[in-house]
Amino acid sequence: MFQKLGRSIAKRRLILSLPPVARDVMKDGLTYLPLERMASLNAELERMVAQDVPGDIAEFGMALGGSAIVLAKSRGKRRFLGFDVFGRIPPPTDDDGADAHSRFKVIAEGKSTGIRDGEYYGYVDDLFGRVVSSFEKYGLRVDNQSIILRKGLFQETFSPSESDRFRLVHIDCDWYDPVFFCLTSVSRCMSPGGVVIVDDYNDYEGCRNAVDKVLAEDASLLLERTLPHAVIRKRAS
Ligand SMILES: C[S@@+](CC[C@H](N)C(=O)[O-])C[C@H]1O[C@@H](n2cnc3c(N)ncnc32)[C@H](O)[C@@H]1O
Repeated sequence: MFQKLGRSIAKRRLILSLPPVARDVMKDGLTYLPLERMASLNAELERMVAQDVPGDIAEFGMALGGSAIVLAKSRGKRRFLGFDVFGRIPPPTDDDGADAHSRFKVIAEGKSTGIRDGEYYGYVDDLFGRVVSSFEKYGLRVDNQSIILRKGLFQETFSPSESDRFRLVHIDCDWYDPVFFCLTSVSRCMSPGGVVIVDDYNDYEGCRNAVDKVLAEDASLLLERTLPHAVIRKRAS
């Protein structure tokens, strides 16, 4: 009984730590992020602001746009960049485990359910239009200047320029290939002290292997914690 009470107090604390926008996207069924990950994402956003780390905010893997809305709301005077195919998730590869392949089979057979039994985002006809409308509902205009959405494979839509700098990047794209591509690509444009969060580190073997491989080869990145998701810091020097 005391354990149950303790858990419910801890849950209440996490809910209270969230800004209203994060509570609302969860209530509206726009995000797959469970409460612990949303609270951790928000805490890292607040830390970047408190430490005045320079740079934009980006997300790779938006689905219905829930976590992206939270990130875009906190962009201040900087930009938010969101990347997604805005359609069916591309398949896993031989670098992924049975977990990813069986999940993809369910999706490909048209049997995936969505958030709280709603429509699965990968079966929505105009997902890009749906996400833009959700942004608008939250007072965010996709103007391609301060809020930029790029539709297509990350590998084709993201090629950072010399001047690109990020303070926080959220990588939420499940399988080995996209996670490996995103983490290696953003590493060179993270501000010192900036943070990369990889959502699926504990969910999919391929994602975890991709992160571990990049970290083993890139000494500028430090894995700070792995719960409730991977939090990777760009070293100051
Ligand atoms: C788990 S969902 C993102 C969840 C979202 N962040 C939320 O708040 O619920 C993963 C997304 O990544 C996208 N994705 C995965 N691999 C991709 C790739 N190579 N290029 C573009 N989008 C990709 C999928 O289509 C999907 O929309």
